[in-house]
Amino acid sequence: MRVLVTGGAGFIGSHLVDRLLSEGYSVVVIDNLSSSVVDPCSFWGCSGTLKFIKCDLVSPSIECVSAFRDVSFVFHFAANPEVRVSYTDPMIHFENNMVATMNVLEASRKSMVEGIVFASSSTVYGVAERIPTPEDHPLEPISVYGAMKASGEITIKTYSRLYKLKSLILRYANIVGPRLRHGVIWDFINKLTNNPSVLEILGDGLQRKSYLYIDDAVEATLRAYNLLLSDEPGSIRVYNIGNTDWIYVKDIARIVADVMGLGSVEFKYITAIPGGVGWPGDVKYMLLDISRIVNDTEWRPRYNSYECIEKTAKAIYRVAAQSS
Ligand SMILES: NC(=O)c1ccc[n+]([C@@H]2O[C@H](COP(=O)([O-])OP(=O)(O)OC[C@H]3O[C@@H](n4cnc5c(N)ncnc54)[C@H](O)[C@@H]3O)[C@@H](O)[C@H]2O)c1
Repeated sequence: MRVLVTGGAGFIGSHLVDRLLSEGYSVVVIDNLSSSVVDPCSFWGCSGTLKFIKCDLVSPSIECVSAFRDVSFVFHFAANPEVRVSYTDPMIHFENNMVATMNVLEASRKSMVEGIVFASSSTVYGVAERIPTPEDHPLEPISVYGAMKASGEITIKTYSRLYKLKSLILRYANIVGPRLRHGVIWDFINKLTNNPSVLEILGDGLQRKSYLYIDDAVEATLRAYNLLLSDEPGSIRVYNIGNTDWIYVKDIARIVADVMGLGSVEFKYITAIPGGVGWPGDVKYMLLDISRIVNDTEWRPRYNSYECIEKTAKAIYRVAAQSS
């Protein structure tokens, strides 16, 4: 089977492509390389089962749109993933996360693609009233990033109803692991590399969120996708993908400092934003109810939030130390 992965050169996308190739899929990767973590042709080789098309999905080329004709399913993972950017430059998220999604849907519809898997996010819930947060919780995003993900979900569901596209919406918690180049662990390692004695932490450090290791996230994604394969045309599935536990930001800072062998770092909390969050649009608490995907697929996370953070910090720090 041939599938297409948008954002396949990015963090989650590249791990997903690894797994799809190892399972015998032919994969078309579409990416504009704006925040990529691998160079597809040198990483996988661009002959045989992997094809790479450099394309900006905000204004896709004819070659890019034509690539949808040859595939049965599309994994739409291309986006700008930085929630923080939303507040300062909302148009970045409108274009890369919404216009791009619309272009992916149009290309999918015109090419009679069977179904789409969409990388959504826990941010669609906003400040959740129920924690752990189940899938039927109202969508009340407080960031433009979350709003664009929620809009993408609604548009994808509408395409499912109108054009009988199967859809799988995956609301990921914080996904971490090797190759990650954004988010709190990446940020802390960079800051501590520049100044090993003081770490500025955005917020009061008491933000508490759930983290999932990339291998667990890819496994959950593939299990849910396998269910989609035998669904009826026009079917819609929505799953939270996260961990069963959560961790404080101050504890993430401690783990990262320990991994870097820094015993006496001063943690300096930047509490400029009311409520102790890190930036406008940040939520203080995030823990997803994952019972739906566990019940439907028997998937379970293998690593807890603490283990994910430690494994990721070690992997990122090792690469950073090698390249310095
Ligand atoms: N990492 C997480 O914790 C997390 C959590 C929830 C949801 N998500 C979502 O999962 C997806 C992947 O996230 P990630 O962490 O791998 O991010 P990433 O930045 O590593 O990967 C995104 C990829 O999309 C590409 N891209 C961006 N805009 C594009 C455009 N206009 N046209 C073509 N390609 C474009 C980038 O070059 C990059 O390779 C995103 O949709 C993100 O919103 C990520």
